[in-house]
Amino acid sequence: MSSHLLSVDSLSREHVNHLMRVASRMEPIAQRRQVTRVLEGAVLGNLFFEASTRTRVSFHAAFCRLGGSVCDTTGFTFSSMAKGESLYDTSRVMSGYCDAIVMRHPDQGSVAEFAAATNVPVINGGDGPGEHPSQALLDFYTIDKEFTRLGKTLAGAHLLLTGDLKYGRTVHSLIKLLSLYDPMRITLVSPPGLEMPGYLIDLVESRGHRVEQRDSLNSDFSDLDVVYTTRIQKERFTEDMIESFAGVSQDFTVDRAFLDRHCTDTTIVMHPLPRDSRPGANDLSVDLNGDPRLAIFRQTDNGIPVRMAIFATLLQVDDLIEKDLREVRWFVPTRIGIDDRQL
Ligand code: NCD
Repeated sequence: MSSHLLSVDSLSREHVNHLMRVASRMEPIAQRRQVTRVLEGAVLGNLFFEASTRTRVSFHAAFCRLGGSVCDTTGFTFSSMAKGESLYDTSRVMSGYCDAIVMRHPDQGSVAEFAAATNVPVINGGDGPGEHPSQALLDFYTIDKEFTRLGKTLAGAHLLLTGDLKYGRTVHSLIKLLSLYDPMRITLVSPPGLEMPGYLIDLVESRGHRVEQRDSLNSDFSDLDVVYTTRIQKERFTEDMIESFAGVSQDFTVDRAFLDRHCTDTTIVMHPLPRDSRPGANDLSVDLNGDPRLAIFRQTDNGIPVRMAIFATLLQVDDLIEKDLREVRWFVPTRIGIDDRQL
């Protein structure tokens, strides 16, 4: 694995398997049963120039759970980029302060440009419509964990990816990552104009997977193992796209009626979140809340062990995590959310 995590392109199947194993070993710490100080003294720079809740906070929390500390800056307004500072200068400056850097930025390729100016590990927390590799790793970890619980295998599985497949960077990274594994069936459903980029479909097909594209959820689907829904990325639309998209109906809402019609008891529903819960948003419906097939909060919880694994591997302490584990001393509820079930 290279010294940065900028794109799934730099990961082999062996790298992913290693990260998955390290993430499992992080579970007792992520679930707040044990404490480690393996990154004691290390400092993370968390630079977010686009909106974020879970990616920003879970990277922060993951670094803290390894015993490190975090410095952060949010938005352009309060950073020197507002004064015209280049990515090169910002990168060199931050590298003098921090041992690892996570960056999210609205321009595709910007995080790679930032990383090119430093030898400190840089993680791409999302570069515009480009990639979001840590999200793909936590999505893959979730699929693997859920499949193990359900007695399923990835080989031959049927995954439905739906929503904004053009601008949704999480699905770009996820489909690349899935393509490293044994052949599966991937159905892509998006509103016209928001299809998965052709080069990604070509890549996945060239690796032996079966890909099918549709423009509506109102058709027949069978044997779905995973329904992965995404938000329409309106913030990336041009003016005329906003107007033409206003006419799209509720066709892309995944709700209880969709699950009743097309899914089984062992289908899992995922979403990178945030889901747009406003009326008419064409997103994952809240009417699935409490349904055990809805894996979205198990998925967000998995962000912690996976991001801990990324830090531990990049900072080369992945062999040391079990060394000085201690028991947690504070109160931790057995079920974190009120709807959480014992599965
Ligand atoms: C996504 C993102 O920012 O790419 N969220 C996330 O990081 N979990 C998805 C989105 O914003 O729709």
